[in-house]
Amino acid sequence: MAKPLDLPLLLILITMVASLVSVSCAQTNVTSGVSLQAAAGASWPSPSGHFAFGFYAIEGGLAVGVWLATAPNITVTWTASRNDTSATSGALRLTYDGRLLWTGANGQDRTVAAPPQPAVAAAMRDDGNFVLYAANATVVWSTFAAPTDTLLAGQDLSPGAQLFSSISATSRATGKYRLTNQLNDGNLVMYPVGTMNVAAAAYWDTGTFQIGFPLTLRLDASGVLYLVGNNGSYTKNLTKASAAQAVEQAHYHRVTLDPDGVLRSYRHGLLSSGRWKTDVEWIGPSDRCHVKGACGFNSYCVLDRDAQPSCLCPPGFDLMDAGDAAGGCTASSGAGECTVGQRADPGLSMATMQNVSWADTPYGVLAAGTSAADCQAACISDCFCAAALLDTNDGTCTKQQLPLRYGREGGGYTLFMKTGGAASPALGGGGNHHHRLGRAITVALVGVGLLAFVALCALLASARLLWLNQRTVRRHIALAAAEALDEEAPLRSYSYEELEHATYSFRDPLGRGAFGTVFKGTLRNGGERAVAVKRLEKLVEDGEREFQREVSAIGRTSHRNLVRLLGFCHEGANRLLVYEYMSNGSLADFLFKAGGGGYPPWRDRVGVALDVARGLHYLHDELDSRVIHCDVKPQNILMDAAGTAKISDFGLAKLLQPDQTRTFTGVRGTRGYLAPEWYRGAGPVTVKADVYSYGVVLLEIVACRRSMEMEEAGEERTLAEWAYELLVKGEATSAMSSDEVVGAAEVERVVKVAMWCVQAEPQSRPSMDSVILMLQGRLEMPFPPPPASSY
Ligand SMILES: *[C@@H]1O[C@H](CO)[C@@H](O)[C@H](O)[C@H]1NC(C)=O
Ligand SMILES: *[C@@H]1O[C@H](CO)[C@@H](O)[C@H](O)[C@H]1NC(C)=O
Ligand SMILES: *[C@@H]1O[C@H](CO)[C@@H](O)[C@H](O)[C@H]1NC(C)=O
Ligand SMILES: *[C@@H]1O[C@H](CO)[C@@H](O)[C@H](O)[C@H]1NC(C)=O
Ligand SMILES: *[C@@H]1O[C@H](CO)[C@@H](O)[C@H](O)[C@H]1NC(C)=O
Ligand SMILES: *[C@@H]1O[C@H](CO)[C@@H](O)[C@H](O)[C@H]1NC(C)=O
Ligand SMILES: *[C@@H]1O[C@H](CO)[C@@H](O)[C@H](O)[C@H]1NC(C)=O
Repeated sequence: MAKPLDLPLLLILITMVASLVSVSCAQTNVTSGVSLQAAAGASWPSPSGHFAFGFYAIEGGLAVGVWLATAPNITVTWTASRNDTSATSGALRLTYDGRLLWTGANGQDRTVAAPPQPAVAAAMRDDGNFVLYAANATVVWSTFAAPTDTLLAGQDLSPGAQLFSSISATSRATGKYRLTNQLNDGNLVMYPVGTMNVAAAAYWDTGTFQIGFPLTLRLDASGVLYLVGNNGSYTKNLTKASAAQAVEQAHYHRVTLDPDGVLRSYRHGLLSSGRWKTDVEWIGPSDRCHVKGACGFNSYCVLDRDAQPSCLCPPGFDLMDAGDAAGGCTASSGAGECTVGQRADPGLSMATMQNVSWADTPYGVLAAGTSAADCQAACISDCFCAAALLDTNDGTCTKQQLPLRYGREGGGYTLFMKTGGAASPALGGGGNHHHRLGRAITVALVGVGLLAFVALCALLASARLLWLNQRTVRRHIALAAAEALDEEAPLRSYSYEELEHATYSFRDPLGRGAFGTVFKGTLRNGGERAVAVKRLEKLVEDGEREFQREVSAIGRTSHRNLVRLLGFCHEGANRLLVYEYMSNGSLADFLFKAGGGGYPPWRDRVGVALDVARGLHYLHDELDSRVIHCDVKPQNILMDAAGTAKISDFGLAKLLQPDQTRTFTGVRGTRGYLAPEWYRGAGPVTVKADVYSYGVVLLEIVACRRSMEMEEAGEERTLAEWAYELLVKGEATSAMSSDEVVGAAEVERVVKVAMWCVQAEPQSRPSMDSVILMLQGRLEMPFPPPPASSY
């Protein structure tokens, strides 16, 4: 009887057979029906064997792509569906209907290529281009036409196209940086991902704008990377030809936007010994600290002797995550916030750092020629200001807010960083002085003496004006609130039968909420009163929770801009809520009227914006317990017969006890309106989350455009980014939807308020009372920084 083969021997045999197969299968043309089983290294090689298309190993499994077969490690030059998770099973197959699929990847079919005409053959070419052919032998699809992070010799980055860096060498999904060949102006620019194509966001460019025609970026076989346009009549070389090398069997050039945001030109030479040698021939930007994002928020980048970047925290700041130097820094003590009428704390001081720059957009600029003392004083007296940068060449002083981004050593600026003081938005709660001072490296405390005197004078002068103004304003708000408390009636308890009767047995539904349906009804006690009755019907527990929230959150409150709760029914398993009836539908109906009925008048829209702001201000600041609404959106804002907007639907609302200024995480609310700290699950959620949602609603009010509409239309920008761009260009007024002539300053003011509301950092957003004053033009506001980058 034959002795059974033992397992190791079997494996060796299989491996030998497999390698034989892969050599004998060095086919260059793949035809319909041919497939390649998933396994690390399984590939369709190029005739030379130097390039291959197939499966390569990544973290957690396999990916499909093209690589240069350098040793010991392969060099990946293209990846299919790079954001998809890795998989270990299935096969690559050129299907009979002319597509290239990865069938059975994690049990599903993934499309690698779906050419416009069916492909009947495919080939891995010697230049690194993997192509698909149609029946008449024309190329209908190629990896060269869809670059990921790399260009090979002969490959173009066409006008409008981009390279995206990978996350890391082992994770090829889209990372943090992009190289854009700008279609509109011909400039080749590097940006962090998630920014707009504006100069302020760029960190490297070729300066080839205003050429007058689009340019193509191309790498030639000698390693020259160049821009070419106007049918070849224009060229600009970015790199030099590679120097001649010792005897080599072959060499290849590639240009890759690496995970660290640097574009590098590589030369891979195959030596006669069979070994590969890799050289970096060029890098851009040459100073790696120029990459915007090399260091995290509030930190700055310093190059060491080997030109490697490292990240440091400024005085008063610590690493966010002690194990991640590039992860950014956070103020050593908790952050306070800026409120209207707040006086600068006399305990404030400024720490100084020389020779640094922060490339972030300032929100306020003092004219050239400002002295160091004036620059510090301007920041110290401005509650919004977290730091000031003084250009030591011309004395321009710019005021900055947190987070400070893209910091680096060099650039010849002096940084003044606000520290100390109880109310500083930068560092807040001043109990921590020794600790911060202990950490400071180059700290010069100038909290006493001449500067404090100068600061105080400036402060007193401006504070007095503001304070006088505030007093009248405060009085005005108090008055409005008093008017609002029209009838202070206690909540009534109804029987189920009464409400069944009032709604004609729940016959006329007005709409559906998260946990139940709202019906129209009529109460008859004395006169007749139209009401809206919400019958909670979801899961018993959720319904009960919603019921409790509604009753406790708005039960005892009464404000002109909140939909009033009149009573409830709590009988057996029945939970019903009775509200005043709002005859004019929701703000969504008002703004986004179907059928092209024109835009609501500007005055009415501003009125509605103020109504909502007042309602939120009441919830946030005027109750014994603060209430965070948590779901501010046009569908939850209702309009009464007089056109007054009222906030409704407190189903998600959160009550905060007075000592609980910040609390709870976990996603609630509605996509598109959610503050970033909320869906990121990072950090506590405060009333500032409502301010963010309000900012989105405010933009919708001004633009008469739904925030989600942009995303649905496949736009990369959010409504806020779109509006910000217009604001920067001074085109906000003409682009906002209006049938009337409205003053540019007025429209701009409202857009600016919205921009402050949608800031990424909660403490940068104004409180609702400031929003009211800013909308009314009673409170000056600085030009806003860019909004939170995406929803
Ligand atoms: C090859 O890859 C291994 C594992 O990813 C890595 O540790 C090693 O540094 C790489 N070698 C080269 C020369 O890149
Ligand atoms: C091949 O067919 C496509 C359309 O299917 C056509 O556009 C192209 O011109 C053809 N090429 C040749 C060489 O016939
Ligand atoms: C592969 O097939 C295409 C179309 O049939 C043909 O034009 C091409 O020359 C073939 N390539 C090789 C390397 O055989
Ligand atoms: C991959 O994900 C990034 C965001 O992480 C996105 O910007 C990019 O468009 C995605 N790329 C593809 C090819 O889906
Ligand atoms: C570019 O040059 C070619 C050949 O010289 C010519 O046929 C073509 O019309 C030119 N294209 C443009 C856009 O000028
Ligand atoms: C650009 O590179 C090409 C190819 O090496 C060379 O022929 C040409 O002279 C270079 N142009 C300039 C302006 O250096
Ligand atoms: C400023 O920093 C840059 C970059 O580190 C350095 O080259 C330069 O010498 C510094 N200048 C001064 C005045 O310290």
